[in-house]
Amino acid sequence: MKLIDGKLIAATILEEITEEVTQLGEEKPRVIFIRVGEDPASVSYVRNKERAAAMTGIRADLRVFPESVTEKELVSEVEALNQDSSVHGILVQAPLPGHIDEAKVFRAVLPEKDVDGFHNVNIGKLCQEDPTGSVACTPAGIIELLKRSDISVEGKHVVVLGRSLIVGKPVALLFLQKGPFANATLTVCHSRTKDIASITRQADILVAAIGRAHFVTVDMLKPGSVVIDVGINRIEDTSRKRGYRLVGDVDFEAASEIVSAITPVPGGVGPMTVAMLMQNTLQAFKASKE
Ligand code: GUN
Repeated sequence: MKLIDGKLIAATILEEITEEVTQLGEEKPRVIFIRVGEDPASVSYVRNKERAAAMTGIRADLRVFPESVTEKELVSEVEALNQDSSVHGILVQAPLPGHIDEAKVFRAVLPEKDVDGFHNVNIGKLCQEDPTGSVACTPAGIIELLKRSDISVEGKHVVVLGRSLIVGKPVALLFLQKGPFANATLTVCHSRTKDIASITRQADILVAAIGRAHFVTVDMLKPGSVVIDVGINRIEDTSRKRGYRLVGDVDFEAASEIVSAITPVPGGVGPMTVAMLMQNTLQAFKASKE
């Protein structure tokens, strides 16, 4: 069984980006993170993104808004950043509070500065296989993990669990593309899918992105398959100082016994999301100079 070490692969990518940023002139790429409220997971994710930016020489600023912020105020902030030519990337951390229409905020970001790849234009470009768009970071990170682990996708049956804008839908579109590390046969399962286990058992590559701790049990897996676990779930663990530990959507211990390759949680997909965000920011910077 091969452990797909996302932490190591992400570190390599960050080194490559650092090298490229060093070679740039005086002006460096600049990204703005917008966080609303104090959701502990979002606080931690955004902190990781700030750390990676600092490491690579990408400039990053964080704007924090209270939970009570209105949609109009957020959109105004995004529009001001759109106008600011010193800003190359804008990321609004999801999830946003329920009173805000997330899609509307994502749409407010100029497509050229949409380093998250959530804007309609970038989703459209993904559908059309237009490489000038930016691709959502977690999906891009998943494909990069497979590529750098030499796991072929061509003709394989890929089963994606989850249909979110952030992971499920865009990763499905990537697997469907024509080209290397794509050309898959695809099934997407979600909360209304009947008899999920009968479908996941047919997966040569399973991507679990439903956000439920240990949802995928070993009986749901095909022996010899590849498992990409996108879930980052906090479960109570009184033996830890912080009172919880992180687990994926897949029962890692049992799955490890029968699969050919698997990503750990933490240290699998998570660090790749951050690395791809830095890559998207560098791309946005370079495109702004063309
Ligand atoms: N929340 C969870 N993942 C992501 C992501 O990739 N981007 C943003 N903006 N929010 C997220």
